[in-house]
Amino acid sequence: MADRYLSFTATAPGRFLTRRLGLPQPAALSRFSPERPSLTGGLAHLTAGKTIVGDLAAVLSRTGLPLAAADPAADPAAVVLDATGVRDVDSLAEVHAALHPVVRSVAASGRVVVLGAPLDPEDHHQAAVQQALEGFVRSLGKEIGRGRTVNLVRLGGDAAAAESTLRFLLSPKSAYVSGQVIAVTSEGPERSERSDGSEGSDDWSRPLAGRTALVTGAARGIGEAVAETLARDGAHVVVLDVPQAEEDARRVAARLGGTALALDITAADAGERIAAELPDGLDVLVHNAGITRDRRLVNMPAERWSSVLDVNLASVLRTTDALLAKGALRPGGRIVATASIAGLAGNAGQTNYGASKAGVAGLVRALAPRALAGHGVTVNAVAPGFIETKMTAAVPLFIREAGRRMNSLAQGGLPVDVAETTAWLAQPASGAVNGQVVRVCGQSLLGA
Ligand code: NAI
Repeated sequence: MADRYLSFTATAPGRFLTRRLGLPQPAALSRFSPERPSLTGGLAHLTAGKTIVGDLAAVLSRTGLPLAAADPAADPAAVVLDATGVRDVDSLAEVHAALHPVVRSVAASGRVVVLGAPLDPEDHHQAAVQQALEGFVRSLGKEIGRGRTVNLVRLGGDAAAAESTLRFLLSPKSAYVSGQVIAVTSEGPERSERSDGSEGSDDWSRPLAGRTALVTGAARGIGEAVAETLARDGAHVVVLDVPQAEEDARRVAARLGGTALALDITAADAGERIAAELPDGLDVLVHNAGITRDRRLVNMPAERWSSVLDVNLASVLRTTDALLAKGALRPGGRIVATASIAGLAGNAGQTNYGASKAGVAGLVRALAPRALAGHGVTVNAVAPGFIETKMTAAVPLFIREAGRRMNSLAQGGLPVDVAETTAWLAQPASGAVNGQVVRVCGQSLLGA
């Protein structure tokens, strides 16, 4: 279902009228395309406090964005503010001093990325002001407008460990990711480690070359977009979906040069069946299959509860456990599960769905350190907000309109936005991103 309001506000009379009425002004977002792979414009590298990361300038220069002067006339496409050294309220003032003059001139669909440090439990002044950066970033995200995004990356180690993250956030691929706080550790980059000891691809445009990815629920919707994006990045993709959707799964697989696998993920032996299908193992596992069976709790029969919990949570737990136990995920492997903002913020009529998706976030946070230590595998989640799919097209008009507009970008996201975020987490170079739940929601007003 096309977003007609977005098209209307893109016209001169539409813009005039909606401005006069004080209505939301969604900007047309610039997304990745092979013709326009990067932001157009320069990058301003600013610092607040005394930086604690040495190699940041080198990493930023590798993004390919030309360095722009930190003055408003430069109209940068991106601003990176290194606030890792902010330790007290005085140095926090340097965040204001650095961004205040330049923020107005950041180009439409531009990026502001603030770099912070992990909170120091021994120093409550440092912890206070580093936490303050979250409130700052989320507030700026809500006021900046014009399709611009604002995110915070907490660097636990050197900037090189965050290269894949910075490249993602400073590119059109992160168009619908805003107001997020992403922790990047110094541990386990596992950059290119493969089971055969060979180097992974250093090619940033095909980072998954030579890798195998399995996406559940990939016959349509977000899963199909994830499969497409992982294939674009070089992966051989296994398109898993229920037997009833086999024809669609085959069509998607054929288009992507991948393989279809007709399997109900709730089958007790689903993990074993996947492992049998992929005797050489796999590198990327995307738990995308999900269902909704909405009803308020007072009207919800047990069957609606259990079917949602089974597809969205129990099968994710079961197949993850089975595949890890069998060593089917190769070292350097990546698990990306699909949560939802409904699981983080709660949603009326979705106690079953909200519980299942919050469960996914819990699974990710608890399993991540152990999966990395035991198997060299990272575990993260994407939490989509309002995404334009068949599922959301079926939502009644007024609820749909509210869902679309109630975020900082004043529009719904596209399946490709979730797919790009998944593809970033799936990269060999994203080994220092672990246990994160990244919302792809245009900074939805729902939830924290
Ligand atoms: P969709 O309904 O269009 O596609 C889901 C796919 O999963 C379908 O192809 C379906 O056949 C498959 N599937 C369902 N049960 C399965 C099972 N037992 N075994 C194997 N495959 C199964 O849904 P959509 O919108 O693409 O959502 C994808 C994921 O994103 C889901 O986990 C959903 O909860 C989540 N999500 C979607 C949002 C949205 O706005 N569309 C918002 C937040 C989360």
